[in-house]
Amino acid sequence: MDFILNKKNSQREQWTSKLGFILAAAGSAVGLGNLWGFAYRSSQGGGAAFVILYILIVLIVCLPVFVAEMALGRNAISSSLIAPVKLGGKNWYPLGILFFIAPLGIASYYSVIMGWTADTFFHSLFFGLPKDLSEAENFFGSISSGSSVLLGHLLSLVLTAVVVSSGIKKGIEKVTRFFMPILFFILLLLAIWATSLSGAWEGYKTFLLKFELSQLANPQTIRNAFTQAFFSLSLGIGVMVTYASYLSKKSNLPKLSFGVALLDTLVGLMAGLITFPIVLTFGLSETISESTVGALFISIPTGLGAYGIAGRLVAVAFFALAYIAAITSSVSLLEVPVSSLMDKFGFKRGKSVCIITIILFLAGIPSALNLNILGIFDSIFGGVFLILGGFLVSFFMGWVVPGKLNEELNVSKVGTKTTRYLIFMTKWISPPIIGFGLVISIFDLIKGWMS
Ligand code: PHE
Repeated sequence: MDFILNKKNSQREQWTSKLGFILAAAGSAVGLGNLWGFAYRSSQGGGAAFVILYILIVLIVCLPVFVAEMALGRNAISSSLIAPVKLGGKNWYPLGILFFIAPLGIASYYSVIMGWTADTFFHSLFFGLPKDLSEAENFFGSISSGSSVLLGHLLSLVLTAVVVSSGIKKGIEKVTRFFMPILFFILLLLAIWATSLSGAWEGYKTFLLKFELSQLANPQTIRNAFTQAFFSLSLGIGVMVTYASYLSKKSNLPKLSFGVALLDTLVGLMAGLITFPIVLTFGLSETISESTVGALFISIPTGLGAYGIAGRLVAVAFFALAYIAAITSSVSLLEVPVSSLMDKFGFKRGKSVCIITIILFLAGIPSALNLNILGIFDSIFGGVFLILGGFLVSFFMGWVVPGKLNEELNVSKVGTKTTRYLIFMTKWISPPIIGFGLVISIFDLIKGWMS
């Protein structure tokens, strides 16, 4: 097989600036995972213990993986399907395949959830909010079944495809530059508004202060924290490999990854500071931790429904925020397989986008029609596959091609201490810890399926 880049693609696009990359990468990271995953996972795992584990995993494990992924993409200057082979030889093709399949798996159901988000947005805007929990459950039932789901899924995919087909600078970078500041602004307004709720303090306490030591050893909490860290940072899936392949050699990889991880974590925490006060003010804690996928769409509209017109405005802002966050993530999910087809077969961008979008529409139909299937896709592709990808990429950069990692850190003049630290972590710390997280996650997942 010929893995070498097709000549047509040798003129690879680049981000216009470092900020362009940061906003695009943060756009990928900040998504439904921050708004919806963070809230329900932390309420399943007893608040603070989950938050602490999650932050430790981000700092100790994910940051080196982030740098390793970026080093892989920038060194290979190719998409994530080809990059591992270019650097490590044909034996590493399976890693490239994992980077091809995992984003397809996530994107197929992500657009279904985006469809629900759009539906909830329009419903809040034009018709109003549900009056009580049972009305909200009916409402969620109606948006998550029937033909409107397929329509929402399709429209979200088409919108994503339009952005990706316009390319890196004119598509992804332009859209994320425009939307990310708006997103931060709405988020801040909502967090300020949430302080005025009667259950605000109760919410903060449950989210951040309710600490039970035993939760740190609970397999479900451990799996949730690993999944949330990798999913939320878009790691282990080839997004950062692909995005870094459009980056100039001058950019300092550790600084960029630290910036993106910081933004993402802050947004996750801020989202918790919005959702928890709402949930506790309206006594909805059970709804949020019980249902995995419906939480955001049942508890938030119900809570806000009690607030009259002001609540409705907040709901409109919240679901607009969620959709903006989601689209900047879904473009990254689409870009990974699209750029892989371009590199591997020399296809034009437009053709790749069409092929992948059709595959995604078809692959998403089971998730659109059945919530259980969506949940299974989420736990396999959005959980186990990402952790596996993170494990393999750090093993690869730490043990198989450590020289390339070193080279990428040296070209952008990263200090020797940071370089040594990152190489040490990539070799000795990330692989065993992620391996441990992977084993626990697989066991916990199977245990859940058996019970
Ligand atoms: N990070 C995104 C979110 O939090 C989801 C995502 C995962 C996007 C993996 C790309 C790759 O919603």
